[in-house]
Amino acid sequence: MSPSPEKGAANDIDRHKREAAERAVESIQPGMVVGLGTGSTAAFVVHRLAALRGEGKLLDVKGVPTSRRTAVLAESLGIPLTTLEAHPVLDVCIDGADEVDPELRLIKGGGGALLREKIVAQASRRVIIVVDEGKLSPRLGTRWAVPVEVLPFGWRSQALYLEGLGARVTQRLGPEGSPFVTDQGHFILDCAWGALEHPEALAARLQARAGIVEHGLFLGLTSELIVAGSRGVEVRRPG
Ligand code: A5P
Repeated sequence: MSPSPEKGAANDIDRHKREAAERAVESIQPGMVVGLGTGSTAAFVVHRLAALRGEGKLLDVKGVPTSRRTAVLAESLGIPLTTLEAHPVLDVCIDGADEVDPELRLIKGGGGALLREKIVAQASRRVIIVVDEGKLSPRLGTRWAVPVEVLPFGWRSQALYLEGLGARVTQRLGPEGSPFVTDQGHFILDCAWGALEHPEALAARLQARAGIVEHGLFLGLTSELIVAGSRGVEVRRPG
């Protein structure tokens, strides 16, 4: 029996995520310290690294995980982990994204790990973003709200501030219906602005506000985008 169209499409997306991830892993050289992203695409990176270790390759590569979830996965697969304290500059970081525009600007944070993801990306000499073609967007905000990480202290004031900037604000909830809490103990406000004309200007407004810890606009951080889709795997670099 052939799979349903929905299942077939989901399988294709998973295959594309894996293809992008595996291409990115080809950039990892022996001895490197690698930032390990969070999410289903980044998980394929971790699995590929583990498979190569199984073949006796890249045994001296160490990872810096961007979330507890990634740390648990990497540890379960035997990948040695280290910290940014021990390695404040990383050779490369490989991570997924929720939305990517033609200038390789990103929205990230769908998995709630945006703060550590941004710290790790900014600490990396090279940032490789791996996505399936469904993440490509003509303009950031078209497909995804911008996650904004806030301190629990005074978070409602930040929600009002964000509404004042024109966002439709939804506090992210966990599976039990209580507030989602990040690895750093913060809340996330998902802010729908629609298609963003000036992401840099918005980022500056967000950074200016005390209580906003970080936001999911990753601007000027991508060194390489690896996108996989029905026409194969393509590597793009900022123009
Ligand atoms: C995690 O916080 C996010 O930034 C992820 O990188 C993003 O949500 C992509 O996740 P998937 O690879 O699961 O789509």
